[in-house]
Amino acid sequence: MKINPHKPEATKIRVAAEFIKKGGLVAFPTETVYGLGADALNPKAVLALFTAKKRPLDNPPIVHVENVDDVYKLAKQVPPEAELLMKRFWPGPLTLVLERSAMVPDVTVAGLSTVAIRMPKNNVALALIRESRCPIAAPSANLAGKPSPTTAQHVLDDLNGRIDAILDGGATCIGVESTVLDLSVSPPLVLRPGGTSFEALKQALGDVKLHQFVAAEEEVAIGEARSPGMRHKHYAPNAKLILVEGSVPAVVEKIRELIASCEREGSRVGVLATDETASKYEVDVVKSLGSRFNLDAVAQNLFRVLREFDAESINVIIAECVPNEGLGLAVMNRLRKASGYNIVKATQLENQDRKLARKFS
Ligand code: TXA
Ligand code: MG
Repeated sequence: MKINPHKPEATKIRVAAEFIKKGGLVAFPTETVYGLGADALNPKAVLALFTAKKRPLDNPPIVHVENVDDVYKLAKQVPPEAELLMKRFWPGPLTLVLERSAMVPDVTVAGLSTVAIRMPKNNVALALIRESRCPIAAPSANLAGKPSPTTAQHVLDDLNGRIDAILDGGATCIGVESTVLDLSVSPPLVLRPGGTSFEALKQALGDVKLHQFVAAEEEVAIGEARSPGMRHKHYAPNAKLILVEGSVPAVVEKIRELIASCEREGSRVGVLATDETASKYEVDVVKSLGSRFNLDAVAQNLFRVLREFDAESINVIIAECVPNEGLGLAVMNRLRKASGYNIVKATQLENQDRKLARKFS
């Protein structure tokens, strides 16, 4: 159902809310990515969410609210940091993990003692929650393991026939998911970098830490994951993805080398580049995420471009890194996961060594 993203038509919201009230599943836009919504207080409906997405039952969804009062019902206690952050960042791309109250069904939090809550900054999402008269549990509306959807078409591509309705409010504006911040520990801990930058959280809280696995370069050991989402395969396009990290010239050089060796092995190669570097690769497919000086735009394009690679018949995607600042931290976290931690380091030193080697050979 196409819907006006600024002033959603009440009749359309009513139709969608009817599905939610009856325990059905409705995909809807948020400012980050599309979510797949169910009544968070109806265990059967939440179970159906997991089934539709083929999502492991140990990975709980985020509970979406449209007013702050509901937070006090869903959480056992609301610490002062939470109040400050809600005032400053809600509605917006920040999810708060709090001790949960008895009101929240076990399945909604995958048996954890905490619940993840956020208030999305999107009029369609807010109207749907209000009209449904319940908090809405909503993971991203993709099949588990796939890149998150930033358009209604992406949702349809993954979930056609598996859900009741999609509200199509156009492309989402942030493009990566919300930042997940654990407030059940002290100091607060970022479990997933996202649409609210770490810099902004530091400014607001003073003391806040990044979980060591946010910038992890390896798979997370199960015992050490604080967020179930850290453990699962994520964001993966069909082709194998290799991520190359280092300074821009070293990365370009390394990617050109990798292209040659992949092609020698008979692979069709795609490169995930940026506007500044895209012309430097001679290869079957090159796609740009936008300018590396505009990390907001890079984040906005990331999942769409990863999905676009699925329409190309290539075997390997080689991706450039972007700076680990602002929304770049979230982009790098998604790229590392999408690569299955298949990360190649490109160093200047190696470069110089190679030039020297060439000179003397
Ligand atoms: O922007 C977003 O956050 C989107 C839109 C739809 O709101 N939602 C989203 O949901 O990305 P999902 O389910 O794909 O990701 C939720 C993340 C997962 O990594 C999950 O493990 C973590 O939040 N999470 C949920 N409940 C948690 C809890 N109680 N403690 C720690 N992590 C939790
Ligand atoms: Mg997701």
